[in-house]
Amino acid sequence: MNSQLILKSFFPFQAGFAIDGSHLPKVTDAEVQLMREQFDVLTSENCLKASNVHPQENVYEFAAADALLDFAEKNGIEVIGHCLVWHQRCPEWFFDDDGKPASREKILDRLRLHIHTLLKRYRGRIAGWDVVNEAIADKGEYLRDTKWVQNVGEDFLEKAFEFAHEADPEMPLFYNDYNIELPDKRERTLRLLKHLQSRGVRMDAVGIQGHWQLDQVPFDEIEKAIVAYHALGLKVMITELDIDVVERPDCGADVSAHRAYSLKEDPYRESCPPEILQKQAEQYAKLFAIFNKHREKITRVTFWGLHDGRSWLNHWPGVRTNHALLFDRQCRAKPALAAIAATMS
Ligand code: XIL
Repeated sequence: MNSQLILKSFFPFQAGFAIDGSHLPKVTDAEVQLMREQFDVLTSENCLKASNVHPQENVYEFAAADALLDFAEKNGIEVIGHCLVWHQRCPEWFFDDDGKPASREKILDRLRLHIHTLLKRYRGRIAGWDVVNEAIADKGEYLRDTKWVQNVGEDFLEKAFEFAHEADPEMPLFYNDYNIELPDKRERTLRLLKHLQSRGVRMDAVGIQGHWQLDQVPFDEIEKAIVAYHALGLKVMITELDIDVVERPDCGADVSAHRAYSLKEDPYRESCPPEILQKQAEQYAKLFAIFNKHREKITRVTFWGLHDGRSWLNHWPGVRTNHALLFDRQCRAKPALAAIAATMS
């Protein structure tokens, strides 16, 4: 392939993709070739989330994560750990004490042990961790109303970062969230990040997830967010990039939103029309023109999936055939790849 079209050869930041340990037994040679050829780094899509890796207080399920790390090392790909605290994939046992609500101290002890166990087990093999995922409220108030806030308090965030830092003082630590480019949520995020900094929390970067939709990419707000977060002295990462081409309800990237799709609403089941792919290419190019302009602020851009067939958008917020990434189901480059390369050269 023309080196102009190799992401890691022309990106001024790291080129990443997400994949799950549970996918590995089924990856094809073409997929492995695509990963090795195009990308520097992968993010663990699910296998390091608490519900997967630590389903019961005394039960850890490391097999999928171990396999992912072995695979990444064999193929010369770095690994980002995702994620230590996320209300959506946090098992109930964290908050339970023999049928009664666990005390704040007990929950924090469990969190500390959870974080120490993961960071120490994979020390030297994971290049950075998303410490807290999606703690900011979508509307209205400041933090999302979760069991973490209710049962521990707003300082669960600084505790999580503190525990990660004490477990591995060298480890790069990130805060990660969706829609934090949009003005209201951006203000709340700035408030949180400044608060964490004022408490002396070690935090290296903020991850803007980047689950955007065709014709609705908030380009100006994205640029403002990159500038504003960087002004706090943080690196900026785009951590879960995709451009959905199928209409979806206004639900941000909230994984709890579900929708029953009927086949009629699966418009690109056979294939994606060339004019849609072209539009998607233009919008990806415009996005990467912004990232390129701010290249000294951005350290990594990660796509949420290796290719269209492995994108979560085929299942969320309902089952449909999506075409959100740079490579198609046969691992072939889509028009977006050449458009991005052209805009960055
Ligand atoms: C998604 C995975 O891609 C799916 O396989 C899983 O079923 C649900 O979670 N924001 C995040 C990611 O931070 O962890 C989510 O990943 C997508 C939205």
